[in-house]
Amino acid sequence: MAEHSMILTETQGPAGIIRLNRPAALNALCNTLTREMAEALRAFDADPAIAAIIVTGSEKAFAAGADIKEMQHLRHPDTYMADFIAESWEAVLTVRKPVIAAVAGFALGGGCELAMMCDMILAADTAKFGQPEINLGIIPGAGGSQRLTRAIGKSKAMEMVLTGRMMSAEEAERAGLVARVVPAAELLAEAVKVAEKIGALSAPAVAMAKEAVNAAFELPLREGVRLERRLFLGLFGTEGQQEGMAAFVEKRKPAFRG
Ligand code: CAA
Repeated sequence: MAEHSMILTETQGPAGIIRLNRPAALNALCNTLTREMAEALRAFDADPAIAAIIVTGSEKAFAAGADIKEMQHLRHPDTYMADFIAESWEAVLTVRKPVIAAVAGFALGGGCELAMMCDMILAADTAKFGQPEINLGIIPGAGGSQRLTRAIGKSKAMEMVLTGRMMSAEEAERAGLVARVVPAAELLAEAVKVAEKIGALSAPAVAMAKEAVNAAFELPLREGVRLERRLFLGLFGTEGQQEGMAAFVEKRKPAFRG
């Protein structure tokens, strides 16, 4: 992995861990940080030893949003011509391995949007989610108005986007934004456990399961169900399917080979 100045990377078993590490700015997502995160995502995605990627921050902040100081003097149409908030921000969407956001502390603005671009969110009990852009005279710009609305419904999303109100971890779980809430001290270990579970499964089934669920956000129901069926049928004859079903019939644990 290349040297980075604003993220830390490590592996734990099959988990590739990217820790956003810009404490002085509560992990505000400046250009350097998002570029480094994109590089690390691509490197872990290409590494056959890695089954899932975890994106996390510090105890105080997952990420407090796009870097307001970097944005302050930007003007349209330069923002548009430079395709501001596109390429490196959205790298997480092109990764084929599951990406788990492990969120403690603030996940605000672009930080909340980054978490929502991941495949699932595990939240520490200290997590706070919000889209406070309205307080800056702007609106969410990395998918917040769309993904938050799909995750928690119109009324709650509208209140958060219109007023900037933050949501606690508990409320986020109730609303369906996060998969689970865990004690802050156990957050990373819990995320690694999820990665280990995924790492012990059949890799083609994992990749297709991710593709199928994510398609639910892009396709009309009929198309989504068709895609699911094609992927499902395509798994028959794979080593994973043969091993998984043989193990069930023989009453033993399956031993998937990745
Ligand atoms: N951009 C740049 N710097 C930031 C930042 C951000 N988004 N968030 C925090 N910081 C910096 C602060 O400026 C401060 O730096 P200095 O010490 O140099 O002044 C440092 O991080 C610590 O922050 P605070 O002193 O404010 O810490 P706090 O504990 O009092 O408050 C907070 C924490 C409530 C998260 C507060 O920092 C805050 O409101 N941050 C901004 C949140 C926000 O508006 N995010 C949306 C950004 S816009 C966006 O994301 C657009 C998009 O959709 C893509």
